[in-house]
Amino acid sequence: MERTFAIIKPDAFAAGFAGKILARIYAEGFKVVGLKKLYLSKVEAEGFYAVHKERPFFGELTDFMSSGPCIVMALEAENAILKWRDLMGATNPAEAAEGTLRKEFGSSIGENATHGSDAPETAAFELGYFFNGLELL
Ligand code: RTP
Ligand code: MG
Repeated sequence: MERTFAIIKPDAFAAGFAGKILARIYAEGFKVVGLKKLYLSKVEAEGFYAVHKERPFFGELTDFMSSGPCIVMALEAENAILKWRDLMGATNPAEAAEGTLRKEFGSSIGENATHGSDAPETAAFELGYFFNGLELL
């Protein structure tokens, strides 16, 4: 079993898609090990996406992630990291495959509904950034 870190981003939360996205998560066989609603500050969003701090879209990305509440989750499944990336679809909703979350709920490359860790090291960092051990029992 593997754990990954996921976010229902502010665009999807504000649009009322959290329930539908959670239903897909359960239907696809993930176990929801941790879940909470947060309203990230700009500094918290910058810390989370620090790996992108040199990118031209960093300011826009962290403004967006701190623009409203989101839901952060720890998801467990076999090959959870890849499985969740597959369910999300391509970063740009316009390029995301039919049936993926970003295709259904995303509206642009910036406002793309969900986040998912991209490797075991990033999953470990991101899970630890948002959850302590007791919250994931
Ligand atoms: P995420 O980290 O949010 O799960 O998305 P990702 O792995 O598919 O994409 P990543 O390369 O990590 O980029 C993080 C987020 O930055 C925004 N982005 N904007 N304007 C642009 O060219 C651009 N490129 C990336 C996206 O919202 C992406 O989710
Ligand atoms: Mg990423």
